[in-house]
Amino acid sequence: MTMEESKDYLDLSEPEDEQSSQIFEDLLDVEPIFDSKEVLRPAYTPDELPHRNSQIQEVATVLVSALRGDTPSNILIYGKTGTGKTASAKLVSQDLETASQKFEVPCEVQYINCEVVDTQYRVLAKLARAFGREDVPMTGWPTDRVYDAFFDAVDTRERVVVIMLDEIDKLVEKSGDDTLYNLSRVNSDLDNARVSIIGISNDVQFTDMLDPRVKSSLGEEEIVFPPYDANQLRDILQQRAEMAFQENVLEDEVIPLCAAFAAKEHGDARRALDLLRTAGEVAERSQLEIVNEEHVREAQERIELNRVVEVVRTLPTQSKTVLYSVIEFAEEHSDKMTTGEVYNTYKRVCQTTGMDPLTQRRVTDLIDELDMLGIVNSVVISKGRYGRTREISLSVPHQETKEVILEESRLDDVDVDTVAQSKLNEER
Ligand SMILES: Nc1ncnc2c1ncn2[C@@H]1O[C@H](COP(=O)(O)OP(=O)(O)O)[C@@H](O)[C@H]1O
Ligand SMILES: [Mg+2]
Repeated sequence: MTMEESKDYLDLSEPEDEQSSQIFEDLLDVEPIFDSKEVLRPAYTPDELPHRNSQIQEVATVLVSALRGDTPSNILIYGKTGTGKTASAKLVSQDLETASQKFEVPCEVQYINCEVVDTQYRVLAKLARAFGREDVPMTGWPTDRVYDAFFDAVDTRERVVVIMLDEIDKLVEKSGDDTLYNLSRVNSDLDNARVSIIGISNDVQFTDMLDPRVKSSLGEEEIVFPPYDANQLRDILQQRAEMAFQENVLEDEVIPLCAAFAAKEHGDARRALDLLRTAGEVAERSQLEIVNEEHVREAQERIELNRVVEVVRTLPTQSKTVLYSVIEFAEEHSDKMTTGEVYNTYKRVCQTTGMDPLTQRRVTDLIDELDMLGIVNSVVISKGRYGRTREISLSVPHQETKEVILEESRLDDVDVDTVAQSKLNEER
């Protein structure tokens, strides 16, 4: 709409200010799809977690020692993302604190997300502050001093302290296992308090990175959270849907389809909820009052595309250039291509952008990386007596991927025409 048109458009109606307030009132009036969208967001934890009873029971059985005045064993919880580890652990700790007040047995839980708090210093400082040493700065002291501050703060009185280290694999990956080593030995020096650790990891292999002493102390109890299957995901979605949506807006296939898609993504409940919310938003945007199967399929595509966009955006420039070359070749010639064909296109793209080309060997490595990220598909095929060759094709949508690549300033002046032009020049 041009300025002129928009003026006409506004003039058609009531006096201006009245109309603008009306726009929002109208939108607020009708809420045909959602009752509470928040319920579908990751931050929301329901009071009950279907299909996690036995895991919750296992954790509680270990922690109940705290209420008897003993030190609970350390626990290691494993499972893929979206299997309800964080939600379950938080639920148990709330119950533990409630029970501790009821029975007047001092017991506290400190939750730390190690993806955010990712060094020994920060973990210790965070704990020291949580136990009352607010003077400890989040950076700057020697680690010994922070450790002492934490130690003194915990030991001020008799109590059991459960330290829950979520995403513990990220901490170990980034800063090694010193933190865990120190925390797992702290009980031998404490006079009053008792510390027990719950580590939560998305990565089953992560204990391979640990010192054997840390491994055996931390893994006194190991609890595995298996992926959800499609039926379990249905129940989880059903529970949320009742709170999140208006009555009778979901067609029958919606929840089973969301569950089926997420079951393929290693049984990820986060993905299932995300899909259901996005499907609702798609329907909302189409101004419909019903969510149907089509909306779920569109939501699935959208989420998948977002993932691709995120991955492509963070690729190094050379990898983007290689990917761009694959798209170029596919658009100009054929969907399937050899490494040599990618490499020739790549050299032309480098020429247009003034970039130094890598060797074919390196480019082949970059293609392998793109393959592992699920962006291209590279298979070795037999050409009979001509030997074997690699066949490369794109696994993501051309247009959208290209747009993301062209956001990068070094590549923004390459487009089909300039590449075609330079090819012409080359041929002359
Ligand atoms: N059994 C369940 N019932 C209801 N919601 C669940 C269940 N398991 C997971 N969720 C929800 O799925 C999302 C991901 O769960 P989360 O506990 O964060 O997984 P993890 O920590 O294993 O990656 C959260 O929104 C959580 O509330
Ligand atoms: Mg988690």
